[in-house]
Amino acid sequence: MMTAVAFAQENKGRFVEELKALLRIPSVSTAPEHVADVRRAAEFVAAELKRIGMENVRLIETTTTKRNGHPLVYADWLHATREGDGKAKPTVLCYGHYDVQPAEPLDEWKSPPFEPTERNGNLYARGAVDDKGQMWMHLKALESLMVAGGGTLPANVRIIVEGEEEVGGEGIATFVREHGDQLKADVALVSDTEMFAPEMPTLCVGLRGMIYTEIEAHGARTDLHSGMYGGAAPNPFVALSQVIARLKDEGGKILIPGFYDKVQKPSADELKAWKALSFDEEHYRENEIGSVELTGEAGFSVQERTWARPTLDVHGMPGGFVGVGAKTVIPAKAVAKVSMRLVPNMNPAESFAMYKAYVESITPKGIVLEVRLIHSGDPIVVSTDNSYVKAATEAMHEVFGRETVFVRGGGSIPIVGDFVRELKIPTVLMGFGLPDDNLHAPNEKFHLANFHRGIESIIRFFSGVAV
Ligand code: BES
Ligand code: MN
Ligand code: MN
Repeated sequence: MMTAVAFAQENKGRFVEELKALLRIPSVSTAPEHVADVRRAAEFVAAELKRIGMENVRLIETTTTKRNGHPLVYADWLHATREGDGKAKPTVLCYGHYDVQPAEPLDEWKSPPFEPTERNGNLYARGAVDDKGQMWMHLKALESLMVAGGGTLPANVRIIVEGEEEVGGEGIATFVREHGDQLKADVALVSDTEMFAPEMPTLCVGLRGMIYTEIEAHGARTDLHSGMYGGAAPNPFVALSQVIARLKDEGGKILIPGFYDKVQKPSADELKAWKALSFDEEHYRENEIGSVELTGEAGFSVQERTWARPTLDVHGMPGGFVGVGAKTVIPAKAVAKVSMRLVPNMNPAESFAMYKAYVESITPKGIVLEVRLIHSGDPIVVSTDNSYVKAATEAMHEVFGRETVFVRGGGSIPIVGDFVRELKIPTVLMGFGLPDDNLHAPNEKFHLANFHRGIESIIRFFSGVAV
C-alpha cells in the first residue's frame, strides 16, 4: 500500500492545478458584487471534501448584524479508534478561510490576480497563500491520508472553512459560540500564518487583535464651491487630518488616553528568543518594506513593534474629489478608515470606547463626527506546552530537517481567540507562507515548494497525533 507522503508526492501536479481552479474564483468577501463568487468558492471546497471521502459535508449559512454572511463549509470524519481498547483517537479541528482580500490596485500585478500564474517556483494569485493555498494543503493532506488508509484516517477530523475571515469573521464567531458542541475537538490546526524565514519551520504562538473603525465627518449640508464658501465653511477632510494627526505622535506612540494601560510585556524568555533570531533589519527595510527608513516606537525591536506593541493605521479616506485633474469643491462629508492592532491583555471593546471618546473630544469646530466600529478581534497567545505542539515540531523536523522557531505574528485571525476561549482547546498555528509573499498586496504568491512541504508536514502531524 502506498504511503500518504508518497501519494502526495505523486500527485503534486494535480494538487497545484486544483488550487489554480480555486484561485480563479474571485471570492472577495468585502465586495457586494462578489457574493455569488464567494459562494462558488464555498461550493468548490465542499465538493472536494465530499470527493475525498469526508462525511457530513455541508454549507452552514451565517447571518451577521449587518448583512447576510458568507457560508461556512463543514465536514468531518470521526471513526478513528485505538486498536485494543477501541477508544476514540484524538480529534483535530482544521480551520482555514476561502475568502480573499480585494486585488486592487490591479495595474501593479505582473499577472492578473485571478489568473494564477507560475513563475520561478511560485504561484502568483490573490489568495495563493492567504489562505486558499494553505487551506488546500489541509484538504490534500486529508486526501492523501484517506487514500493511504483505504478510506480511513489515522485520527478524527473536523474541518471548518470560513468565507469572512478578511472581514472580521463575525459569522463563524457566532457559530462557535452557539454551536461549539458541533466542533468538539482536542486541538485546532490553523495554517494561515508565515514562516520567520525560508527553510525555517515556524510555529506562531501569538497574534495581535484588532479594532477596525470608520470616522465619518460632516461639515456643510451639501458640497460647496470652494471659492464662494472657502473661509466660512468647515472642511471635513481637513478636520479628519487634524484628528488623525492627534491619534499618534511622530515617535509612533498612540495618544489615546489609557490605550497602553493593559499592554502586557512579552516574557523575558520570549524577548530573549526573539533577539536570538537572525534578522537583518536593513534587508527587511530594503526588500520587505521598501521605504527610506523604518518607523515606530523607539526602544523596541522590529519584532517587538510588529508582534507585541499596539499600532494605529489609516487605510483610506473615501470621499471628495479623486478624479483626474482638479475640481474646486468643499465636500460635505469625508470618511477615514482607521484600525488599531491590539496586543495581549488589551480588550477590543474597552480600546474602542477610549478611542471613540478621545476622537469625539478633539472634534474640530464646525464638524459633526460619527465614530463606528466595523469589526474587532481579541489578541491571543497560545500555549506551547502540549503534545500537539510537539507533534507539529516533530512533523516539520522530518520535512525541513531543522528545529522549529516559535514566533508571534503581527496579523490577526479573529476566530483563534474563540477556539481558545469557547472550545477550550489548544491551537497549533502551523503556517508555510514566506515573509515576501505579499499578503493583501499586489503580486501575492505561494512558494510551491512550501505548498508541498506544508502538505507533507500536515500528513506527518496527523500521524503523530494519532499514536
Ligand atoms: N492570514 C492573515 C493573518 C496573519 C498574517 C497572521 C500573517 C499572521 C501572519 C489573515 O487572513 C488576515 O489578514 N487577517 C486580517 C484580519 C482582520 C481583517 C480582522 C488582518 O490581520 O488584517
Ligand atoms: Mn489569512
Ligand atoms: Mn488576510
